[in-house]
Amino acid sequence: MQIAVVGSGYVGLVAGACFADIGHQVILVDNDQQKLAALRNGQVPIHEKFLPELLDRHRGCRLTFSDDLKEAVSLSSVIFVAVGTPPTESGEADLSYVESVARQISGGITSYKVIVEKSTVPVYTSDWVRKIILRNGADPELFDVTSNPEFLREGTAVTDFLFPDRIVLGCDSERAAETLREVYAPLGNGSYYERGDSIPQPDRASIPPLVIATSTKSAELIKHASNAFLAMKISFINAVASVCEAVGADVNQVVHGVGTDSRIGRRFLNPGIGYGGSCFPKDVMAFRAVARECGYDFRLLDEVMRINEDQRQRFLRKVQNALWTLRGKNLGVLGLAFKGGTDDIRESPALFVVKSLLQAGSRVTAYDPAAMDRTQEVISCGIEFASSPYEAARGADALLILTEWEEFANLDLNRLQQELKYPIIVDGRNLYDPEVMAAQGFTYYSVGRAASHPDGVPTAVLKNGRKAS
Ligand code: UDX
Ligand code: UDX
Repeated sequence: MQIAVVGSGYVGLVAGACFADIGHQVILVDNDQQKLAALRNGQVPIHEKFLPELLDRHRGCRLTFSDDLKEAVSLSSVIFVAVGTPPTESGEADLSYVESVARQISGGITSYKVIVEKSTVPVYTSDWVRKIILRNGADPELFDVTSNPEFLREGTAVTDFLFPDRIVLGCDSERAAETLREVYAPLGNGSYYERGDSIPQPDRASIPPLVIATSTKSAELIKHASNAFLAMKISFINAVASVCEAVGADVNQVVHGVGTDSRIGRRFLNPGIGYGGSCFPKDVMAFRAVARECGYDFRLLDEVMRINEDQRQRFLRKVQNALWTLRGKNLGVLGLAFKGGTDDIRESPALFVVKSLLQAGSRVTAYDPAAMDRTQEVISCGIEFASSPYEAARGADALLILTEWEEFANLDLNRLQQELKYPIIVDGRNLYDPEVMAAQGFTYYSVGRAASHPDGVPTAVLKNGRKAS
């Protein structure tokens, strides 16, 4: 099938490459000429596992790049819209890119087309997209607007796309639903997974994935509700971690006990410095705003956001408690991306922490396997970049772990200790066992667990961010 994907960002590029891999002809459309030139030249603009392989496999054959949206629409049966929907100052989703794309799509509707919202959008967006397309002269019989939300996570985006838990097809007409079922048929009927060259199956893949048919509005809500629920899970466990710190309990033990209840589940219960990225912060705000607009005051979501903000501040207080004063301190920082496995620094809690430390007068030497170039574009003063975790630790008064990269969980602790000026680690991602760290000679602070010291004496419990006796 001939497909157009509008917007070649984190979502559109992955979706386009994956649609090509399951057998479709794909035109990836973007209005950023530089990005298009880079993609045509074989560059991969984002760090994403398996994406380079897929682009190499399909570039110039099943996957082409264009800035001509009208032509791409007229050539395609299905048009996925994956342009950004950033937050406005009041927290609502800014839908101006979606609107502009809808206007342009209108001119290319020469035969029946299914327009698919892939970007995360508030409920009712499909109605607006339809209105805009009609206002610009398209024949109402020649198109349907549908919602097919994307649940991929950065870092594992390709496997999330190809091995999803479910595929949600939000359509209000049988004709559109049939077309979308056809798009996903190689996943829905399992034939993609039987091929010798399919992308390797991750753990926990449910094959074939469940295909769920809903109305368009329900699909729009499924996306916002899913992201808000996951953010709520993270804020919930971060709040529990704060209680653990106050009473001297171990949040990891609590998570194990709670998460093994199959009704709750273990995933997305990792405490830390809070959630970031281009989705959770903006989607929780946007869901809050759209609920208010529709007459429901969803105050639970305010609390989810408040806990998330507070979590970063608590971490900063922890660093201060460990070091007393911050001015003039040399701090090693591991992690700048908003999560492991990506170079994305949008709404990164790690970057928030780094900026706050710089403002407080600390000097930072940071290492991240993928996000240093992007960080350099937004912070240049007071920060240096290292070529390894050990170089970041060299001569530092303390080492801070801010992103859950796998490589940070497997460091050579002896070497780290030799590099640090003082063997102090403040771990915002709970990557190590406090007892092991104490045995290795570190003073180790983490989230929701008592700090540990080399002499083995259990630490003062942290209360309200201050040391209590
Ligand atoms: C996506 C979704 O679309 C967003 O709603 C979701 O919540 C997060 O993921 P993402 O892929 O991260 O956004 O956005 P971004 O990386 O900013 O890519 C958007 C692309 O669309 C860019 O390449 C941009 O150049 C392109 N674009 C934007 C257009 O081609 N036309 C426009 O009018 C606007
Ligand atoms: C999220 C959703 O998971 C995905 O379904 C949706 O399509 C886009 O938004 P993403 O933002 O790429 O994906 O990453 P995710 O793995 O969900 O992590 C988001 C943030 O939450 C990161 O900052 C991460 O560090 C944090 N997180 C995640 C936690 O703090 N604890 C957890 O247990 C899980």
